[in-house]
Amino acid sequence: MSTSIQVKNTAINYSKDRPAAENPVKIMDLTLRDGYQSLFATRGRTEDMIPVAEMMDEIGFWALETWGGATFDAMHRFLNEDPWERIRTLKRYVKKTPFSMLLRAQNLVGYRNYADDVAEAFVDRAAANGMDIFRTFDALNDYRNFETVVKGIKKAGKHFQGCICYSMTEPRMGGEVYTLDYYTAKAKELAAMGADSICIKDMAGLLAPYDAFDLVAALKKATDIPIHLHSHFTSGMASMTHLKAIEAGVDILDTCMTPFAYRTSHPAIEPLVMTLLGTNRDTGFDIKSLAEINVVLEKEILPKYKHLLNDTKVSIIDINVLLHQTPGGMLSNLVNQLREMDALDKLDQVYAELPRVRKDLGQIPLVTPTSQIVGIQTVNNVLFDDENERYKMLTSQVKDLCYGLYGKTAIPINPEVQKKALKGYKRGEEAITCRPAEVLEPELAKAKEETKGLAMDLDDQLLYAIYPVTGKKFLKWKYGKEEPPPEVRPRTMEDVIADAELIKKAKAGELLEKPKKLPPEGAQISKYNVYVDNEYFEVGVEQIGGAPAIRYVNPTPSVSAPPPPQQQAPPQQAPPPQPPATAPAPAPQAATTVAVDTEGTPLIAPLPGMLVGIEKQVGDQVNKGDSVVIIEAMKMENAMTAPVSGIVKKINFSIGDPVSKNDVLCIIG
Ligand code: CO
Repeated sequence: MSTSIQVKNTAINYSKDRPAAENPVKIMDLTLRDGYQSLFATRGRTEDMIPVAEMMDEIGFWALETWGGATFDAMHRFLNEDPWERIRTLKRYVKKTPFSMLLRAQNLVGYRNYADDVAEAFVDRAAANGMDIFRTFDALNDYRNFETVVKGIKKAGKHFQGCICYSMTEPRMGGEVYTLDYYTAKAKELAAMGADSICIKDMAGLLAPYDAFDLVAALKKATDIPIHLHSHFTSGMASMTHLKAIEAGVDILDTCMTPFAYRTSHPAIEPLVMTLLGTNRDTGFDIKSLAEINVVLEKEILPKYKHLLNDTKVSIIDINVLLHQTPGGMLSNLVNQLREMDALDKLDQVYAELPRVRKDLGQIPLVTPTSQIVGIQTVNNVLFDDENERYKMLTSQVKDLCYGLYGKTAIPINPEVQKKALKGYKRGEEAITCRPAEVLEPELAKAKEETKGLAMDLDDQLLYAIYPVTGKKFLKWKYGKEEPPPEVRPRTMEDVIADAELIKKAKAGELLEKPKKLPPEGAQISKYNVYVDNEYFEVGVEQIGGAPAIRYVNPTPSVSAPPPPQQQAPPQQAPPPQPPATAPAPAPQAATTVAVDTEGTPLIAPLPGMLVGIEKQVGDQVNKGDSVVIIEAMKMENAMTAPVSGIVKKINFSIGDPVSKNDVLCIIG
């Protein structure tokens, strides 16, 4: 079929009954998954998808992307929503258009490779719940990680879309690794695996228009499978890239509805419909119907999410992507991580370190989870390395990568870094070369055992198997065993209106209160040290007119605080400061805090996060450098190692507790 674009009819109208094009460009809409994920922190709620679901079903999209990627994580963790339920609910409204999900191959919808039994069960359940198209990718483009899930997709009779993650090491396609030959070979591998379509997954918007032309043309020549392009707008090139891809004969493109388009998301559908109107590749979509959907989104839905839009800048494109090739999501993670560590001034150092870390780790593509793995290790290097030692704080994920647990890297890992990472590594000091899941022990039976009495079905058990800590919390909310915290409740239009009124009043100066003048300090003031968890405050109390009144409170940073007294009351009232959007902290377990001699060396948290692992118990003997507890920060696990040899005297946190920077995690003496 000719790939040239011809305008067939200039007097054509907008309506859907215009003559069909010879070879319409097919469109997958990403609004409900990647749209929400890219612009609104994946916080989209099912109830806000329903008002447009039926209208979107009428457009004629090739598919709607409704699930996968980060949705599974964000839904149960932040929205108190059952991810499985979303597929079933939306299916009741969308009866004609197939559903597509983003599947991270053996990583499923998580951040590591899961065992084959979990992968098999997950794909089976996703298909049974209503998923039709499985857009599958592996962050390393190591298709051995596809084997198990593809078997499942095929067994369920569903569409297997194989992705090639688009990556580069130079400003343009080419260089040592990511050449046209590399991509063509990957497409042939996918064809041999039985792919029903092939997706070029350009997660960072790095694919330049003329490179897209060459790439699509080469893949069309190499296989006869439909070619699908997924290109984020981040750098500002995607609309042009789409057009050149169309000229090269691309079959399917990804777009979003206008309010969910551009910035780090995708080009909008409406301009594309107009661009192709009356040509041999006309989409056939009714632009007026699209406009009606936009009205609902703008008026009824988006006001509830607007506060999540990262609109601190006027520019809608991020030229850092062009300069540093950092994917948009990765960049905002890095900035957040640096901000939490009070180290935003080190961003330039992070940019300089990033390509070095990436090369050391095998020049891997940067996409979830490798973008986090490379990104957080880069931040760790910038913050903790010194002139005597590089890679001072290696995350567990980097160790796993060096072991081969994610698959084969594009070029070999720097042997020095690999040796350091594998020293004392729990699975062995020699890296594997087989399919990673082959060394993973089955996980499902354990998950079933650990959720007895809580999980009601396989869907619940899988949620726990993939997200043990937050999954368990969610299941407790789901079955009324624990009250969900207020921050997981939906934001309503009433909230939006109330906020707007408050802002209006504030602008009119109606909220201003005259600050109270501090009375002079009397001679009778008594000073107290108040201990809260591992911080103490100096409080001045002065009697005025018969009743004692607290006069002042001086917070004292815990890092310089003396070890808290042994007989302190369990801090029921005052949990440690929390990072935003996590569940409230349960008070530390009393059992680990009473009647223990706490004289010793504190193990201090060098970064904020969540405690996800306790490797040693109170009373255990540890050697300096042994891992005692694990902190998850930005989805990466960091082993907190003993600063001295001795006995673990005290552990101040439980699994699932939020941890602030400089918190005393344990005492070793
Ligand atoms: Co995407």
